Amino acid sequence: MKQRILTGDRPTGPLHLGHYVGSLVNRVKLQDEYDCFFIIADYQVLTDHLKETATIGENIREIVLDYLSVGIDPQKSTIFIQSKIPAITELTMYFSFLVTLPRLQRNPTVKDEAKTYGVTNISYGFLGYPISQAADILAFKADLIPVGQDQLPHIEQTREIVRSFNRVFGKEVFALPEPLVGEIPVLVGTDGTNKMSKSLDNFVAFAHSPEETERRILNMVTDRKRAYRKDLGHPDECFAFKYWSVFAPTDTLLVRQECETAARGCKECKAQLAKKLNEHLVEIRERRQCYVSQPDLVWDILAAGTKRARAVAAETLEEVREAMKISFPRLRVSMKRGK
Ligand code: TRP
Repeated sequence: MKQRILTGDRPTGPLHLGHYVGSLVNRVKLQDEYDCFFIIADYQVLTDHLKETATIGENIREIVLDYLSVGIDPQKSTIFIQSKIPAITELTMYFSFLVTLPRLQRNPTVKDEAKTYGVTNISYGFLGYPISQAADILAFKADLIPVGQDQLPHIEQTREIVRSFNRVFGKEVFALPEPLVGEIPVLVGTDGTNKMSKSLDNFVAFAHSPEETERRILNMVTDRKRAYRKDLGHPDECFAFKYWSVFAPTDTLLVRQECETAARGCKECKAQLAKKLNEHLVEIRERRQCYVSQPDLVWDILAAGTKRARAVAAETLEEVREAMKISFPRLRVSMKRGK
């Protein structure tokens, strides 16, 4: 039997090159070897975007379009919506009694997010979302969780819940999931300062046109130590060079040499880079266009994935309720999920 993988994204906007390099390429590779589940974490949008719920539906569609266009194959992988899996919600409830308040308050990622979004009066749901994330993972008994560094505290929290659940209820219902942290570091955004993010508008998205992509690349920060065209460049400290090494690795030798000798200027370098990038994105954009032109297809794929995910999570939930002695087998009310 294949090992299971679970990971996903918050539907806060279209995905960008940072996601592509940091996780999507890897996911496409993993889907042959593993039973992959990709969760669209719409509950998590409520943590710090509670007033923007009207955009969630469109953002879900965009993310699924992005998944499909980079090559995530719905025949191999299961793509589903978090809030449409009742078992996740129910597990979150049970798990919430296994985690103390101070433990949640120590989570560095939650603290960072609250700070970034200027949330001073943190809600119960926001503080507790790592428990819901643990439920995302454990509902599917996932073995491996491919994530970025910032998600490690949540995986650790999940592991603590596993230990304490198994101990309290005296049954090995869950195994410990392992994080899988990619080798590729976070792609710095076009501002040359922060990681790529939609809210900072320093990103390049698959949804951008070739012209928009070029405009964004031409505006990007390159080598802060190179003030004039005649100055020698420092590729290792240049943000555009990072992009070269990711998207056109075979050209880096030449680019490095020309940059270090000032044979190439930053502007022409970026124009060339934009061209390379656009070439790299041709196939992805074509596939995206193909799905865009069939508007029902994305939702059909999500419906099929959500159905499969419900069935798997419902089984886990039944096991959990039995271990907790709250399954009440004589109660003749259908516990079937989603019926
Ligand atoms: N918190 C993740 C993010 O912001 C998204 C996510 C939700 C997730 N549930 C998950 C990731 C479960 C891995 C496993 O990107």
